[in-house]
Amino acid sequence: MTKLDQTNKRDNFTGLFGVIAAAAGSAIGLGNIWRFPYVLGDNGGGAFLLLYLGFIITICVPVMLSELLIGRKAQLSIFGAFRKLAPGSLWWIIGLMGVAASFMILSFYAVVAGWTLEYAFFALKNHFAGMTPAELKHTFDYLTGSTWRPVVFMLIFMFITAIIVQSGIKKGIERYTKILMPLLLVIILVLCVRSLTLDGASAGLEFLFKPDFSAITTNTVMMALGQAFFSLSLGMGVMATYGSYIKKRESLGKTAVFVTITDVFIAILAGIAIFPAVFAFGLQPGQESLEGPGLVFMILPGIFNQMAGGYFFSVLFFFLLVIAALTSSISLMEVVVAYFVEELKIKRVKATWIAAASMSFLSALSAVDGRIFNFFENTSSNILLPLGGLLIVIFVGWFLGKKIVREELEADGRVAFYFRLFVPAIRFLAPIAIAMVFLNALGIIRF
Ligand code: PHE
Repeated sequence: MTKLDQTNKRDNFTGLFGVIAAAAGSAIGLGNIWRFPYVLGDNGGGAFLLLYLGFIITICVPVMLSELLIGRKAQLSIFGAFRKLAPGSLWWIIGLMGVAASFMILSFYAVVAGWTLEYAFFALKNHFAGMTPAELKHTFDYLTGSTWRPVVFMLIFMFITAIIVQSGIKKGIERYTKILMPLLLVIILVLCVRSLTLDGASAGLEFLFKPDFSAITTNTVMMALGQAFFSLSLGMGVMATYGSYIKKRESLGKTAVFVTITDVFIAILAGIAIFPAVFAFGLQPGQESLEGPGLVFMILPGIFNQMAGGYFFSVLFFFLLVIAALTSSISLMEVVVAYFVEELKIKRVKATWIAAASMSFLSALSAVDGRIFNFFENTSSNILLPLGGLLIVIFVGWFLGKKIVREELEADGRVAFYFRLFVPAIRFLAPIAIAMVFLNALGIIRF
């Protein structure tokens, strides 16, 4: 038994609901509420949404199921899993890529989580009350442009993440997320209603849901795939780790489908909250004044300003968003810590602080230099995660053996009805689709 097994007892989650809550906790985060709206806004709206949904169905669900399956079969995290399932091979490199991805992702993720934390305090002080969209933009540029502020808030966030990770992912998180995440959902729904009832809201819905195919570029396609992987925490071993906690009799298919649907649902709701307000405020998504990572920070306080009880909701919202970010960041840090503990034989507490310190260093670079931030963000989500996903489906589809796949999907005693769809999906559909996006991005093929 490894150290990780002792601290992270495999019976820690209370049944399928607990695992689903944890996996959804990893998936749902800044990716849905901060990243999805801004990437969609920068990439033309409705057509991006369609590509994103297409990739989720054809690529991401098969990848998620493959990851869960690897974890449950091996009963180990991603590193041990490959050593056990494919001894003497080089497949464990997927795990190493996951470590690299998790360093890169956390380095910008913690910066955005830091902004969120700062916004929560500003909301508490009622700082945004009465601000115009131009003033909100100015505030965002000012806060994030400062050298020390983003670093300090990033460090606070990283510290909280490390405190949770060092003691193992305990029941406490599960208990709180079960209450807090539904609460976040309620606030997003309230935001949607307010945004939709603003004058001129319909242009926002049109932007979000009416595909304009002329807006699709090579870059859009890659961004949509990257966002799908990022949002579902795929391609780097997080879901494999959670899979190892799922009991044999429980259904992996249900888990994958539930987590995917909830995640997509929340991203779309975030879009419904943001875009009608963007247009109602007389702005244009993707324009220089309103592009990039600042989108939700510039728009949301404006919606709260227009709302009865806006003060209360805004404080609650930003704090809950920090918590949603935390349930994702712990899963990111856990990948690195698991690697240190299992492969490098470092004790868990020490491993956690080494990880946190080195990640904080990278993150400080992202906090002060937007180019580094962008580099980490794009390389991890658009390249490393889909590449990891490609290797994972190839492994499960071609190397793991149909018998094992079948066994794992037979959770409830019957051959899962989706087994027939799943095998061709991981053997052909998903790998070919990912490969085509890459070849297209490299300019080798053109659509
Ligand atoms: N899916 C998380 C989010 O949407 C981010 C994440 C990516 C977490 C990859 C773990 C692994 O916020």
